[in-house]
Amino acid sequence: MAIDPKIQAAINQQINHEMTAAYNYLAMVVYFEQINLAGFAFWMRKQHEEELAHATKLFQYLLDRGGKVELETIPKPSSEFGSVADVFQAALSMEQQNTASINGVYSLAKQLDDYATLSHLQWFLDEQVEEEKTMEETLGLIRFAGDDKSALLTLNSQMANRPDEGAQPEG
Ligand SMILES: [Fe+2]
Ligand SMILES: [Fe+2]
Repeated sequence: MAIDPKIQAAINQQINHEMTAAYNYLAMVVYFEQINLAGFAFWMRKQHEEELAHATKLFQYLLDRGGKVELETIPKPSSEFGSVADVFQAALSMEQQNTASINGVYSLAKQLDDYATLSHLQWFLDEQVEEEKTMEETLGLIRFAGDDKSALLTLNSQMANRPDEGAQPEG
């Protein structure tokens, strides 16, 4: 069944959101590299790659449905942050907005009885739960470390151990 133009537009917008997130995470890599927190930089690089994979997944889905992909402009991200906590607060807000955006596409697909899109978006809904949880937990640890630089450096070392997402069957 041909994809509804409204769903096509919403998925194209979601591809842009994922690309925007990817670009913002890359800007966070820049911030961490500048202050020599290589562990955090490594972690954010993985996050950047994950978002690219999300965009690619939707891109492929739209092609599989015979839809037309339209790549929109990605706004310039900022690499200016006041602190490590500020970075993760920004990341959490971004993920919350992304969850709302995916919920919006899901709701539209529901209205239009587009069961294939609902099925495809299921993965994204589950992923967003993980993403928000991860950002909240990390932010909690950073706040717990507070002004303790050695605690922050321990966290920095741990962040370097982030496993590859490719280890999962779906990504
Ligand atoms: Fe994403
Ligand atoms: Fe995300």
